Amino acid sequence: MEINITTFSQGETEELGTRFSSVLVPGDVVAMFGDLGAGKTAFVRGVIRGFGLDTYVSSPTFSIVNEYSCPDCRVAHFDMYRIGSEEELYGTGFYDYLDGNSVIFIEWSENIPFAIDEEAIRVSIEKGEGDIRNIRIESPREIRF
Ligand SMILES: Nc1ncnc2c1ncn2[C@@H]1O[C@H](COP(=O)(O)OP(=O)(O)OP(=O)(O)O)[C@@H](O)[C@H]1O
Ligand SMILES: [Mg+2]
Repeated sequence: MEINITTFSQGETEELGTRFSSVLVPGDVVAMFGDLGAGKTAFVRGVIRGFGLDTYVSSPTFSIVNEYSCPDCRVAHFDMYRIGSEEELYGTGFYDYLDGNSVIFIEWSENIPFAIDEEAIRVSIEKGEGDIRNIRIESPREIRF
């Protein structure tokens, strides 16, 4: 299934992430696609707020992965911007997070197509004019939020 939503501000994209958080369970992988500044981190920030964590979520650009412990689950937030091979991906510890205990977000999934499972929920953000963002959520299972 596919859901298409347009947002008109960063706050709206965060709000969408917060609503979307209600469908997620440990073991879910959310593969994110979209250009620099599309709003991927903003979306994840909203999700983590939805998980009940009151902390500022910033881009894991240099750390590659940031972990969060929410009241009901753990979150691993990846930025694959600088990852280009299976070997580099392995070095990030990515595969260790696929143990079913964490919800995983992957910014720059474009760089690791070989590692994105069919089961993953895909979130693609396309920039429009100004602050317009066209957001597509594709899920192999029925989701409602
Ligand atoms: N509708 C919108 N939704 C989200 N962000 C928006 C929107 N309109 C404008 N912005 C701005 O776009 C930027 C989005 O930044 P963000 O870090 O979330 O992008 P990103 O996709 O994670 O980029 P990167 O690939 O560099 O990690 C912010 O500066 C934000 O204020
Ligand atoms: Mg980002």
